Amino acid sequence: MTRRTTHFESTFLRLVARRLALVISLSSFGNSWRLAIRVLEWYARARWTATVGFAKVGIDSCGLSVEFPTKLVSVADPVSPVSDCMYVTYTSTHILFCTHRPDNSYLLGPDSPSWITVTEQGIRQSFDLTRVMFCRGNITEKIRFGKLVQRGEIILDLYGGIGYFTLPALVHGQAEYLYACEWNPRAVEGLLHNLRDNKVMERATVYQGDCRVVAKENNLVDRFDRVSLGLLPSSEGGWRTAVRAVRNATGGWLHVHANVPAKEVDAWSVWLCCCLRDLAVEEKKPKDWVVLCKHVEKVKSFAPTVNHYVADVFVGPTDRLPLNVELKPGTAGVLKTDKTVELCPAVVTPSSCALSPDGVLHQNWMR
Ligand SMILES: C[S@@+](CC[C@H](N)C(=O)[O-])C[C@H]1O[C@@H](n2cnc3c(N)ncnc32)[C@H](O)[C@@H]1O
Repeated sequence: MTRRTTHFESTFLRLVARRLALVISLSSFGNSWRLAIRVLEWYARARWTATVGFAKVGIDSCGLSVEFPTKLVSVADPVSPVSDCMYVTYTSTHILFCTHRPDNSYLLGPDSPSWITVTEQGIRQSFDLTRVMFCRGNITEKIRFGKLVQRGEIILDLYGGIGYFTLPALVHGQAEYLYACEWNPRAVEGLLHNLRDNKVMERATVYQGDCRVVAKENNLVDRFDRVSLGLLPSSEGGWRTAVRAVRNATGGWLHVHANVPAKEVDAWSVWLCCCLRDLAVEEKKPKDWVVLCKHVEKVKSFAPTVNHYVADVFVGPTDRLPLNVELKPGTAGVLKTDKTVELCPAVVTPSSCALSPDGVLHQNWMR
């Protein structure tokens, strides 16, 4: 086998080729030289692509870095005779979008050339990178979630994706059983594959569809110890479904994700608790229920003044409160110190990242 050009060598070659092309095009050498330079440049580029191999390549704004399987590398060559792709693009940091085949059909699942596998914490997550989101920046939250889940719990993941939180709950958290909802068929395909690949399929059920609808249809009510609401910029649309899902008698935990202006995060957590309490009343949850936000975790920065947060909120009977605080039945608040709680005020101002009354999330506040 011939030695592969390193990334550094091919980048250098490419730069030299470009510089030469510029000089030559300014001089009088003519078209044949220009052609030769283009060939040299193409060669360096093709070699670079071929040598990407299992190297780390940055992919998305979240800083994803993945290892590409060899088959993807083979189709990356723009003139490769083995390629089925009509469109292949790459730069030094973004690579490979093989979205269409000549007959305009897609290769699905593991057969797709853009099917990749990312391993985090021993969990294998495979997906089609042209169809499904993946954010490397969420790794700390995935680890944290896997630790929060307790052995034997029944979990609901309202926004399952390819298993971002589902897999840590089952693999590391040892949840007894997990129900995941997901409406993107390509993500469902990845999720099912990943459940099998990580050998936890027998402890999970996946519902394809809008979580608010499938949860109702399948009576995911009064059955759960913990609900994950991993949707950005806001999971507010799923709060009612989540509250409804928690066990009446023992209560449970909601992990509520949101993008929130950093300066508003305290007010946001209070407003969140007030909303959850109102939803519990509307959903006719037991009268002795309380709502307590125990912790707000900053996951990552989303924009200069906006962060991705997750609030860990207990909803359930006051005598099941996991902490040594006293809350009167029907009240809600945010834990401030070991014993003090900031209670919901009589009138609370909605956070600027709240959905508008028509259910739309306007995003002017993110600027
Ligand atoms: C963005 S992902 C998971 C995000 C995770 N917080 C992260 O940043 O890695 C959320 C998933 O929820 C799915 N989704 C969004 N709204 C949904 C709904 N109403 N019902 C079911 N799935 C939904 C999306 O298709 C997506 O796969």
